[in-house]
Amino acid sequence: MATRMLKRTGLSNDVCEQLKRHHIESCKDLLSLTPLEVMHVACLSYQRAIELLQSVSKAVAPPVTTALELCKKQACFSTSLPALDKLLRGGLPCGTITEVTGPSGCGKTQICLMLSVLATMPKSEGGLDSGVIYIDTESAFSAVRLVEIAQSRFPDYFNCRERVLNMAGRVLLCRDLTCQDVLNRLDTLEEDIISSGAGLIILDSVASVVRKEFDTTLPGNLMHRSDLLGHKASTLKYLAHQFNLPVVLTNQITTHLGGHGSEDAGFVTAALGNTWSHSVNTRLILQYVDSHQRQILIAKSPVAPFAVLNYTIEKQGICMDGDDNQETLYEGTDPGLQPIRVQTGFTYNLTQPM
Ligand SMILES: Nc1ncnc2c1ncn2[C@@H]1O[C@H](COP(=O)(O)OP(=O)(O)O)[C@@H](O)[C@H]1O
Ligand SMILES: [Mg+2]
Repeated sequence: MATRMLKRTGLSNDVCEQLKRHHIESCKDLLSLTPLEVMHVACLSYQRAIELLQSVSKAVAPPVTTALELCKKQACFSTSLPALDKLLRGGLPCGTITEVTGPSGCGKTQICLMLSVLATMPKSEGGLDSGVIYIDTESAFSAVRLVEIAQSRFPDYFNCRERVLNMAGRVLLCRDLTCQDVLNRLDTLEEDIISSGAGLIILDSVASVVRKEFDTTLPGNLMHRSDLLGHKASTLKYLAHQFNLPVVLTNQITTHLGGHGSEDAGFVTAALGNTWSHSVNTRLILQYVDSHQRQILIAKSPVAPFAVLNYTIEKQGICMDGDDNQETLYEGTDPGLQPIRVQTGFTYNLTQPM
């Protein structure tokens, strides 16, 4: 990945400092130079300049690994929802992108908060013992709710103030409200991942800034939006892979307009289109059953079948019935076109005391 900083490629500090004097800090900056220019800026012989270019090229080339090496790495991040973990062969896969999509209010942010708490917990308690980088583009993050989920979900562990403070202090919140802010953040995230010891990256949500800024009915905007999403996806994939951590994104829903025939009546599905749906490795869809009961659909996974699980949102976050065999399989479809049930037509009895 060319935007990687040179000091992260194993070059000596002296060489990095020398290059920095000429404003050459990323691999891309260096690889854009000719060998003669490198000789000049790094004060090296021709042979050493060629070696430098070769070693930096090697550092940004996609790595090759074996299945055995992959088996040795931490493979999954347990969600603390046994039925979901069982289907996903242990939890959210490390090193890849998981998307949580669904209608407003269905619990996407609640999942992100719950996962943040979990990531900070010790490995013996099912956590990652790590920091979290939480990119909030909707100003939806609530520290109060984070603490409430921690204390209600894991009352035995969060039974003292120090542990709660420690947990909250390990969640690095970035409020990025424009596309450019998010891109800039992602391009420089390596440093933050290392300094905060992050083991989880959350982007809540990927859709809001993109949809706000790009009206795709205007000419050229769709192409620009696709380029931008492609950039975001490749950077996140790189970070997930490089640090072997799970990346969790939330997405919104959109209306898929039907054709004229009665068989294609139109429906609601994940936003950002088909190309984007190829960029995510695992897609979890949240949908409403009624005003209280909701469902998680595994709509795309390299390891799990199409499956649906029921959940509710309580004080302690996402809750599934104790029975960890509750899942039912369903006949899935193209994840980019999977219909999603939204909250329509529920009847509320407002005369009953709440
Ligand atoms: N303390 C709580 N106790 C129970 N349910 C809650 C609590 N806080 C939020 N919720 C539920 O979470 C829903 C909002 O979920 P949220 O994750 O913000 O939705 P989304 O991100 O999908 O738009 C609310 O509609 C409410 O039902
Ligand atoms: Mg939200």
